[in-house]
Amino acid sequence: MNNKLIQIKKEILDKLEEIKDSENLKNIEEKYLGRKSELALTLKNIKNLSADLKKEAGLLANSIKKEIDEKLGEIRQKIDSHNNKKEFIDPTLPGEINDHGHLHPTSIVLEEIEDLFSSMGFMILDGPELESDYYNFTALNFAKHHPAREMQDTFFINHKNKEEEYDMVMRTHTSPMQIRAMEKYGAPLKAIVPGKCFRNEATDARHEHTFYHIEGIMIAEDISFAHLKGVLEVVGKKLYGPNTKLRMRPKHYPFVEPGSNGEYTCFLCQGKGCRVCKYTGWLEILGCGMIHPEVLKKGGIDPEKYSGFAFGFGLDRLTMLKYNIDDVRLFNSGDLQFLNQF
Ligand code: DAH
Repeated sequence: MNNKLIQIKKEILDKLEEIKDSENLKNIEEKYLGRKSELALTLKNIKNLSADLKKEAGLLANSIKKEIDEKLGEIRQKIDSHNNKKEFIDPTLPGEINDHGHLHPTSIVLEEIEDLFSSMGFMILDGPELESDYYNFTALNFAKHHPAREMQDTFFINHKNKEEEYDMVMRTHTSPMQIRAMEKYGAPLKAIVPGKCFRNEATDARHEHTFYHIEGIMIAEDISFAHLKGVLEVVGKKLYGPNTKLRMRPKHYPFVEPGSNGEYTCFLCQGKGCRVCKYTGWLEILGCGMIHPEVLKKGGIDPEKYSGFAFGFGLDRLTMLKYNIDDVRLFNSGDLQFLNQF
């Protein structure tokens, strides 16, 4: 057995000497060191020897293995350094220019807003685009036949949500996530929810059937309208500069009481009046208000103990105004002449 091992070792070391490249190395490793090689079969037989012989052969086998491993290491190193030498870099050649993509303008603005809200401790949540009529309307205090539903005509899906027995709709706003967030996290709660919304629109430069909203919600004990105003002022200054002012005027939304719109001083004319703000000096960007007690109840939160505010920004609107884009349809157009400007 020992003689056989020594003979195999010699044979293998001789073969290793012949190796010139990694292809060679692979073949020889497979043939002489692989599972079906003579060496492997011989080593297997060691276990059948008597105790004394087994010990001796075992020691020899180990030293042979070590020797072969060392040799293999040397050879690998040689091949590697040879391969490296072969790679010639000509520094006088012009470099390769890689075309890399970039973020869509709405994503750029969204990231800015997400950073701002994260820094104020808001969670960033995501919600379903196919929503039940219950979350999209009913839980938000839109009575079944209230005309407010008509303003948000959408794509109704021919399918009933079995558990809730409500029709499914493509969500018309991100507000349904107010209820879902309350159900999941309870109070206190601070979150924003950016996301895609859908409405049955005759599209034009200011209306799209598919667009983005950013919902915001804050619920705790003693939250007041002043907190809402404070947060919205911070957002305006961040987006449009430190001199930006906020104006709020009453507006009806079924899920807030009181409800308000939110307008910022026009960033282009600094409030003096121009084409973008239709010579009013103000740009209407959002809806907001104090969350209606009925809505808090629907979300499982006690309105006697907690209060909160909610707001909804039109992300496309924000982006259009920030970059002076005059047609919302460009966002989904896939037009590279438009997109490459950002
Ligand atoms: N969801 C409203 C819309 O689509 C926007 C909105 C208004 C959201 C008031 C709010 C809010 O959270 O409080 O027009």
